[in-house]
Amino acid sequence: MDKLLIQGGARLDGEIRISGAKNSGLPILAATLLAEGPMHICNLPHLNDITTMLALLRCMGVDITIDEKMCVETNTEPMREFTAPYELVKTMRASILVLGPMLARFGEANVSFPGGCAIGSRPVDIHLRGLEAMGATVEVDQGYIRARCDGRLKGAHFFMDTVTVGGTENLVMAAALAEGRTVLENAAREPEVVDLCLCLEAMGAKISGIGTATLTIDGVETLKGCTYKVMPDRIETGTYLVAAAATGGRVKLKDTRADILESVILKLEEAGAEITCGDDWIALDMKGKRPKSVNLKTAPYPAFPTDMQAQFTAMNAIAEGVGTVTETIFENRLIQVHELNRMGANIALEGNTAMITGVKQLKAAPVMATDLRASASLVIAGLVAEGDTLVDRIYHIDRGYECIEEKLQLLGANIRRVPG
Ligand code: EPU
Repeated sequence: MDKLLIQGGARLDGEIRISGAKNSGLPILAATLLAEGPMHICNLPHLNDITTMLALLRCMGVDITIDEKMCVETNTEPMREFTAPYELVKTMRASILVLGPMLARFGEANVSFPGGCAIGSRPVDIHLRGLEAMGATVEVDQGYIRARCDGRLKGAHFFMDTVTVGGTENLVMAAALAEGRTVLENAAREPEVVDLCLCLEAMGAKISGIGTATLTIDGVETLKGCTYKVMPDRIETGTYLVAAAATGGRVKLKDTRADILESVILKLEEAGAEITCGDDWIALDMKGKRPKSVNLKTAPYPAFPTDMQAQFTAMNAIAEGVGTVTETIFENRLIQVHELNRMGANIALEGNTAMITGVKQLKAAPVMATDLRASASLVIAGLVAEGDTLVDRIYHIDRGYECIEEKLQLLGANIRRVPG
């Protein structure tokens, strides 16, 4: 198993391009199941999770072609199989996103029940209750969710008692082909949900309230294929900004957007970074300074994203002062703290809060990645640590960061992939 070897100490300095967003590419690929006629999706990142979603579509019979720039053409014409098998779902929970579109279009969907993962139990009860509210029958049999509907799903008024990104996405896709009006209340407002809705609109869906907590969808009989460019990855953007800030460096990130990163940019400014932005770029300059500690609490968009929590915990570990980080979305998402402490960090955990007393210097150690964003935090820690850090189980990082070592090398980091 490959590992990442990082020799700490280099101040990041340079320019890189940000990839398309994994978390909007995945639902948009699932949405291709709704289209009559070919769909062209571009700016998809070349990541394991995207490959898994393509494999899932292919195993259901979707015809897929792909070019060297990760532009994907899908055609659902030959589709005959309505099952998302355990073998694929177990490797990627986001496979649940095919449930809503498959049911809405074909009246039948069998999706292996996704289990919990390292960061929490991650139930899908809201996805299922929303589909039932639209008239589906849903049962769980031999580890599979089996959903059926007679004719089209029916529009419904549904209140989601927790803000859920995937739940909102599944239900919007289902509602797009339902008969009549669906109103989804307490919907997620994450930019990835907006990106999916814009793609659905381009396919002919009728959605209002995009970007707000109330989505109103007037179902249409058919959706057509379209060409759609996936938005930039805000979490990849944020991760490189934090990596540069932690090293006292400066970066310019191109092909990205500042408007979807406001809470993250504010925290970086609080940490002492100078940030400038254009329409499609963000630059950060730390001017060689050590960051100042920040306090933060994760919450649904537009508040601070859970997917950026681990990276800020790593930055706080070497910052000046004491910072508290509270995780409110997932019950076990502060796991990286134990590995950071092995590198000399001073972090005390109390429930869902980490109290981080910044130290001047972390020390390299062999560390183990436990999930995607925790891995990113270990890479950041490795960049600022004294000595050679070896990060194990980097298959987690390959799920969410396209060419991470090449991009960090471009910024001047001493990082390379070594065979395990
Ligand atoms: N929840 C329920 N019931 C449900 C669905 C969710 O109780 O039916 C709870 C979850 O247990 C969690 C909270 O609601 O406590 C939020 O979960 P959500 O459904 O929003 O998460 P998700 O859709 O499974 C997506 C991203 C995650 C990101 C979260 C939160 C994708 C593919 N994944 O997951 O991304 O952390 O939203 O923003 O979009 C990552 O990229 O590293 C990652 C984990």
